[in-house]
Amino acid sequence: MNNKIIEIKNLSFSYQNDKEKNILDNITADFSKEHITAIVGKNASGKSTLCFNIIGLLKPSRGEVYFNGERIIYKKNYLNNIRKKIGFVMQSPDTQIFCSHVKQEIAFSLANLNLDKDEIDTKTGKALEMLEIAHLKNHPAHYLSYGEKKCVAIASVIAMDHELLILDEPTEFLDSHRKDLVLNILNDLKKKGTSIIISTNNLDLANKYSDRLVSIDKAKV
Ligand SMILES: Nc1ncnc2c1ncn2[C@@H]1O[C@H](COP(=O)(O)OP(=O)(O)OP(=O)(O)O)[C@@H](O)[C@H]1O
Ligand SMILES: [Mg+2]
Repeated sequence: MNNKIIEIKNLSFSYQNDKEKNILDNITADFSKEHITAIVGKNASGKSTLCFNIIGLLKPSRGEVYFNGERIIYKKNYLNNIRKKIGFVMQSPDTQIFCSHVKQEIAFSLANLNLDKDEIDTKTGKALEMLEIAHLKNHPAHYLSYGEKKCVAIASVIAMDHELLILDEPTEFLDSHRKDLVLNILNDLKKKGTSIIISTNNLDLANKYSDRLVSIDKAKV
């Protein structure tokens, strides 16, 4: 049985406006099921770029990504389908949050899963409680602090019960209490069978909370 949730084979990536420079150069790596794997590296090493390639927001210039043994095809319908199984929390909550109110933001993605209203309300309430942001549920999202926005972004993804969660710098903007809160939530989700990939430039945090590390340096793993 394949115990890899994501396999990356010989992946290279360069941005359109700088095609000469490989941000990721012939990367091969894998990510185990029901583990927390941390992608670590310095600022600008390409962690976010790698996350975007895995989730299909960017298309590799070369190489392949496999999800559950199946090669990811970078076409709209295929990507829409796998995004029901893979949740992605972006590094910047401002890029992620697009609804005007907190509760709406969390309920929106759930509505796309064709759940009924009661189920959406229950899952939304649970996610708000988990992140300790229930008091913010009727707040306009654009008034929130960065830490609060990050929690809303994480709650909106966690509510969906994805098979794989990819979180780009999940503790950025968070105070020490909320850092622990988020990492403990991820640990609990792992124990319940969710596979988790986090990207972080905090090696101490990665060592403490992850089962495996994938380290990027100078475009290589
Ligand atoms: N749209 C873009 N066009 C050109 N270069 C880009 C683009 N986005 C990112 N880059 C460059 O790609 C490199 C990797 O960026 P990336 O955001 O993946 O790094 P990171 O490891 O996530 O950094 P951080 O720790 O600061 O989050 C950087 O040098 C960055 O300037
Ligand atoms: Mg980044």
